[in-house]
Formats: sequence, structure tokens, C-alpha cells
Amino acid sequence: MNTPAETTTETPGLTRELSIELARVTERAAVAAARLRGRGDEKAADQVAVDAMRAELNRLSIQGTVVIGEGERDEAPMLYIGEEVGNGIGPHVDIALDPLEGTTICAKNLPNSLAVIAIAEKGSLLNAPDVYMNKIAIGPGYAPGLINIEDSPEDNIHALAKAKGVPVTEVAACILDRPRHAALIEAVRRTGAAIRLIGDGDVAGVIDTTAPEESGIDIYLGTGGAPEGVLAASALRCVGGQMQGSLILDTDEKLARAERMGIADPGKVYTHNEMARGEVLFAATGVTEGNMLAGVRFFKNYLQTETIVMRSSSQTVREIRARHQDTDKF
Ligand code: FBP
Repeated sequence: MNTPAETTTETPGLTRELSIELARVTERAAVAAARLRGRGDEKAADQVAVDAMRAELNRLSIQGTVVIGEGERDEAPMLYIGEEVGNGIGPHVDIALDPLEGTTICAKNLPNSLAVIAIAEKGSLLNAPDVYMNKIAIGPGYAPGLINIEDSPEDNIHALAKAKGVPVTEVAACILDRPRHAALIEAVRRTGAAIRLIGDGDVAGVIDTTAPEESGIDIYLGTGGAPEGVLAASALRCVGGQMQGSLILDTDEKLARAERMGIADPGKVYTHNEMARGEVLFAATGVTEGNMLAGVRFFKNYLQTETIVMRSSSQTVREIRARHQDTDKF
């Protein structure tokens, strides 16, 4: 039987069927990239993931526009910002994608690289330029406004520990291991909280906050890619949680680029609801092994993928373990 949310809030075009179809799109990209896992070649793995995702996207009955993609038209041959995808029959939608999120982790065969996509109503995804974004995120179940990106990391960690009802030493933060985060890491360590330093892949880092019992992560802090921020915000729209992000536009060139992309207020703090508005569909398939999703596994005559598919209006979260014949198509 349908839940009330499923019967009443479906946006024309962003159908339940389309959400399931998205699994094929990320599966194809993930399998292509996984064949080049651990080969030390980020570019090659990214390219095959892009080709595979584009081929599958073009089978979908949508008139899609890539708003978060592989880069701007002149720097990315495929899945560039503004590229039209889909078979041209169906609803007009905006698409945020990353065929291989965590190119370096895939090249090194380390955990948590993903093939990721989000689809939303036209005009409802933040057209973020490829700059850094300062981010903070926690999972569902907390009062709105519990965290604030403008407060100190110490204040946010203490507020979270109090709301969770645990000593601060039982809170774990996820932070990208970068020299630019030295002061942040020091501040978090001073609170007594634990830190999981990740080499790459902050889409998974943010999503990990939504299932702390499985991932061991309560809060995500720090700067990463703005496009990845919009993808993570799309996931949180579907699964719950809170996220805030602000673009780091620290040069005239970045400010001009952001302005061209329609960013009117360069200092704005965006909530996840503002980064991905309206109805959102989200899918991710594991490329390498991860906390949330297993990586692609190759067996003698078949291969196996794990995908998460989510829909904001129903808050449905499906985990799809699929077995595919190991043919050229995959
Ligand atoms: P790629 O998939 O483009 O390699 O991005 C990986 C990533 O770690 C993202 O998850 C993160 O948002 C961004 O890079 C951080 O950027 P930087 O490596 O410049 O610190």
C-alpha cells in the first residue's frame, strides 16, 4: 500500500519509476570506474565513468540539463554544465552529477568512492561554481538550528554532544585531511571529540552523519568542493539531517564566475533546503568499498553493485543490491 506521502506529493515528471531508473545510471558509471580501481590513473577512471553515465542518462525519458557536472563547457568534453541529457521525451529537470566522486580514492582503491546523481525540478538546484564550500552537517533527529556554520567548531561539537546526550568524547567528526584544516582539526581535538580524517570523498563524509550508528560519524566539518556540497545536500533532503554551506569566493575571478552563475549574495549561508529545493531524487552506487555501500564486486560470471536510491517527497531510502551479467554492457 502507498504511504500518504507517496500518493499525494509526487511532482509531475519526478516519478517513483524515475527514481528506480536512476540506479542504472549510477550502476553503469560505478562498474566502469571499478574496472580501473587501484590502477593509479584518476583521469582514465573518471573518463570511463563519465562515458558510462552519459550513455545511460541518455536512455532516460527526461529533458535534463546538467547544472552540476564535470566542469564548464570549454573544460569538460562531456557532462559539462549546461549539457542537455536524456532522450528528449519527458519532463524538464535539472541534474547534479559526479560519475566518479573520489577519483583519487578510486585510483588508490581506498574506501568511499561513489558514482552519484541527483535530479530535481527545473531551477531548484543551486548552480554552484566549482569552488570550495565551507560545510557543516549532522544527521536527522536534532532540533532545527542546533548547528550553525557561523559558530565555532567547539560550540557546534558541544551543542551536538548535549543534544545527543553523550559526553563530548563520544562525538566523532569527519574532516578532509588537508593542511587548510589544521586550525579546525586542532579546535575539534581540544574539545576531546574524535576525528575521522578522510583523504577524499566528502559526499560520503556528509551522508555518513545520517547513520552514525553504522558509520561512527556524527558531524561533518570543513571545506570541500561546492558541487559535492550540492550533491550531499540533495541526499540530506531525502534522508533527513541538517547542512549549511557557504561558497568560498576569495578572488575576483571566482566572484565573477559565481555572479555569472546567478549567485547574487556571495556571502550567503545556504541550508540544504536552499541548495536543493523542491522534490529531489538521489542515487549513489559504491565504486570502492565504503561504510554505506559496498564497492562493485567482480565474480567469475557476474558482478554485483550496491546502490542507494532516495526520494525527498516520500523520504524513501532503498538499498539495491544488483547482480549483473558481466558482459560488455557492464
Ligand atoms: P574528485 O572526485 O573530483 O577527485 O573530488 C574528491 C574530493 O575529495 C571531494 O569529495 C571534495 O569535495 C574535494 O575533492 C575536496 O577538494 P580538494 O582535494 O581540493 O581539497
